[in-house]
Amino acid sequence: MWTRDSLQELIHGRLAGYKFIVVANREPYVHRFVEDRIVHSKPASGMATALDPIMLASGGVWVGHGSGDADHAVVDEHDCIAVPPEDPKYKLRRVWLTKEDEQGFYLGFSNECLWPMSHITFTRPRFDAKDWETYRRVNELFANAVLDEAGDDPTLVFIQDYHFCLLPRLLKNSGRKNLVVAQFWHIPWPNPEVFRVCPWKEEILDGLLGNDLLGFHLRYDCRNFLEAVDRFAESRIDYERSDVVRGGATTKVSAFPISIDFEETNRLATSPQVEQAMETWKRQLQLGDRILGAGIERLDYTKGIVERLRGLDSFLSTHLDYVGKLQFVQIAVPSRSHLADYRRIEDEVDRVTDEINWKWRNGRWKPITLIKEHHDPIRMVALHRLAKFFVVSSLHDGMNLVAKEFVASRTDEQGVLILSRFTGAVRELEDALPINPFGAHEIGDAIAAAVVMSPEEQKRRMTRMREVVARNNVYRWGGKILSTLLQFELPENPANTEVVQDSAR
Ligand code: G6P
Repeated sequence: MWTRDSLQELIHGRLAGYKFIVVANREPYVHRFVEDRIVHSKPASGMATALDPIMLASGGVWVGHGSGDADHAVVDEHDCIAVPPEDPKYKLRRVWLTKEDEQGFYLGFSNECLWPMSHITFTRPRFDAKDWETYRRVNELFANAVLDEAGDDPTLVFIQDYHFCLLPRLLKNSGRKNLVVAQFWHIPWPNPEVFRVCPWKEEILDGLLGNDLLGFHLRYDCRNFLEAVDRFAESRIDYERSDVVRGGATTKVSAFPISIDFEETNRLATSPQVEQAMETWKRQLQLGDRILGAGIERLDYTKGIVERLRGLDSFLSTHLDYVGKLQFVQIAVPSRSHLADYRRIEDEVDRVTDEINWKWRNGRWKPITLIKEHHDPIRMVALHRLAKFFVVSSLHDGMNLVAKEFVASRTDEQGVLILSRFTGAVRELEDALPINPFGAHEIGDAIAAAVVMSPEEQKRRMTRMREVVARNNVYRWGGKILSTLLQFELPENPANTEVVQDSAR
């Protein structure tokens, strides 16, 4: 089984002599001014949550956008700060973006074009030539920061997500011979029918084919990517080996389902702080002996929050005896709220919550408590532990780590996970209750099954899901990617003479 120690062993043994640089738009720690103090927090990002333990195990450098208003105030003259702030283990190098950069690169091309194009939720992508230019320019900015950090040393660069389609090619074209470049695409890859409408599809594919290794969550995404390459890029594809040769260089395309730090979540779940937070929740919600259901995510139109609330309404309509006996807490963390589609979904979530609460309200009781703020891991794990059922109803989701966090939090082996068939996680968590979130009645039926599920049945399902998440943890994800990278020619490093086999773990 992969652990933090075994990953550390791999990195310190086989990757000794290499610099390790992670690039991700979202930084792992954000500094902000609160009155006259500077405080730091972790962002609501599945990607950042997953990468942080890998960085703790590896050391290295994280190159990310300095997005906090106090980020400038705490860095050194090279724009760097050691993190975690309370116990430094790796370096964070901040890249500064102007408002205009943020608008075109982050809000515009990344989140109004690539995000909706990659998720099939019927939200139309916006193709804007000015955003594309800014996106290209900001990819260059990050390339300069990476090259500066790498210097002349042999370096592994591990790029995250859709914000950096052009970065791999820029790095490979820089003339540095000793860079190995890998990228992980944390969201789904669209099928060719969707991808073909993108006016810059050839440039995007060319950029991504600068990678030595390109990872997706699922084989399905890999297949969609290879089909896009087949149709829109000049190259030779070897489907058997799952690689692409373009201009004499090879890109390996593989599936690596991402995960969480299972051990750490377990430790947290049994901590006195979480016990205390559970009491606080109970008090705040005036829970009494009511059944608790919960959902936690960013307020994003891909997450199916409205569909879930409609599902709850459908459940109450068909199970009147539960009126007054069940409470649903929805944590929806505001996200990308400058964009029209995000403001629209926030309004809709507010409106539907209001409508359903008004319909069912009885004395002081109402079915839905909507909380639109970010909570620390202690509060979130406490909510996982209190919930009889937890709903993940994404309309489309690369993986969904919240589902895995719920499972890891349930050290008591109780609780029911209701999970969308359109998440990556559903392929591993076969003991969840699967739903098609587009049908409110399916969510309602799953809630009905969850509230009456016997403790024995809950235990049987939860034990199996816990085994899966414990085994397929985030260290295995990182270990498998790094082991695959080690199979490439890394000529500058004498330590690299054999290949690490994951099957040995
Ligand atoms: C998804 C993406 C991440 C991103 C996160 C939060 O999980 O895959 O790259 O960090 O959403 O979104 P944000 O725009 O706040 O970084």
